Amino acid sequence: MEQFRNFRALTGRAQAASSIEPIAIVGAGYVGLVTGACLAASGRNVTLIEIDATRRALIAQGEPPIYEPGLGALLARVTESGALSVSADLVAALENVRMVVLAVGTPPLADGRADLSALNGVAATIAEHAADGTVVVIKSTVTPGTGRRVQRLIDRAGCGRVHVVSCPEFLREGCAIEDIANADRFVVGGEDEASVTRAIRALNPYDTPVVRTTNTGAELIKYGSNAFLALKISFINEMANLSDLVGANIDEVALGMGMDRRIGTASMKAGLGYGGSCFPKDVAALEHAARREGLSFWLLRSATEVNEQQRTRFVQKIRNALGGSVEGQRIALLGLAFKPGTDDLRQSPAIAVAHRLTELGASVVAHDPVAMEAAGVQVPDIELATDAYAAMGGADLVALVTEWPEYAGIDWRVAATLVRNRIVVDGRNCIDPELIGAHGFDYHGMGRPSVAGLRDHQAAGTAAMAVENVA
Ligand code: UGA
Repeated sequence: MEQFRNFRALTGRAQAASSIEPIAIVGAGYVGLVTGACLAASGRNVTLIEIDATRRALIAQGEPPIYEPGLGALLARVTESGALSVSADLVAALENVRMVVLAVGTPPLADGRADLSALNGVAATIAEHAADGTVVVIKSTVTPGTGRRVQRLIDRAGCGRVHVVSCPEFLREGCAIEDIANADRFVVGGEDEASVTRAIRALNPYDTPVVRTTNTGAELIKYGSNAFLALKISFINEMANLSDLVGANIDEVALGMGMDRRIGTASMKAGLGYGGSCFPKDVAALEHAARREGLSFWLLRSATEVNEQQRTRFVQKIRNALGGSVEGQRIALLGLAFKPGTDDLRQSPAIAVAHRLTELGASVVAHDPVAMEAAGVQVPDIELATDAYAAMGGADLVALVTEWPEYAGIDWRVAATLVRNRIVVDGRNCIDPELIGAHGFDYHGMGRPSVAGLRDHQAAGTAAMAVENVA
């Protein structure tokens, strides 16, 4: 809600929109839907083109088909006012609208390349039906060279002066609305000056600083940004692994490094590594694109390898904490989404961990504040609990895998009465080791010193003191 309030305040500084041309956005997935809702809220007339009928029906009623804080209220407002509508008919939109944004998915193929088949299909329809003067904006994350290739396709079809502009998106799931309203930069690439100017006017309502480049430059900025952030995360994770070995605390190391403004503290949180629909796929796609050009981008391979290893290391920590084996042990898994603030399970480290633990013979009982429904389908072999306390009931070990704020508020005094073994392995370094140690829990983090829980006779008095101190 806080985010939505911030957004409302920000709509006040959106440019006057009355004379801005209508926009069609093809693909009402994460990027298309949030972008469309924000543009509509800033006074633009937006039509979303979506092939999935269920998704269309929900959006038409103002209900988001995905979980994103603030989106429900925003969508309800813009659908009710008529600023945002949804349709299945791309050809009809191409007759009426001259600013067409492509936001279709580009999921990974088995060899790491981005699957551009949806984008290619839409580009073919555009090449056949676009009217003279149409600007085609590629917002989907695409392989370098795609903008130029789509331009050639359109030129060959001879549909008049139709120009392709590349305009990547940098929003994060879980704070997407805030990210759009407070973006660091608006990257726009294209050869035709007038089309680029129109794209900026239509799609940059908050006067975000503009970075002007070529189509390929824009495509590379997008991949490079995600890959660099992934590298940063893998780097700090290796530092955490070394901290474990030499006995340092990664929290202090990351802070001390990050306070150098050239390094920065963002994306320096050590833990289970990155997941989601973007970093893993974009690192692989950039590496593939480099390899195609004869360049071995070793850093990207290493980032991926370190990221995969973090999950294995985490499972190993769990095994060590249980004396070497998880077989027959009941493990409470807190979190399933790839990060807090979303119900997205794509490439979630939590799911990988759940699978591995069950393979090793553990029984896993999991909880997530919003991703339970999807998890029931994706990981049918795990038990789902109604809340964190229910998950911990009778558990031999508690494994925290997604740092939902709710878990920071767990009453460990209550938890201590529920679990069988008081052991916590914290894959996101978000629990206070001293606090839970006072309740008798052994604590193991990722690059943080382990803490042995105070045993019963010590705990009784100290726990009460610790709770008072926290309160
Ligand atoms: C990412 C980028 O941050 C966005 O700028 C970009 O637009 C988006 O991909 C995209 O290409 O669509 P997102 O995947 O939503 O956004 O999530 P992030 O908040 O960046 O987190 C990515 C992953 O890194 C998560 O699994 C998170 O847990 C992990 N992470 C993040 C860490 O392990 N440590 C950190 O310090 C930060």
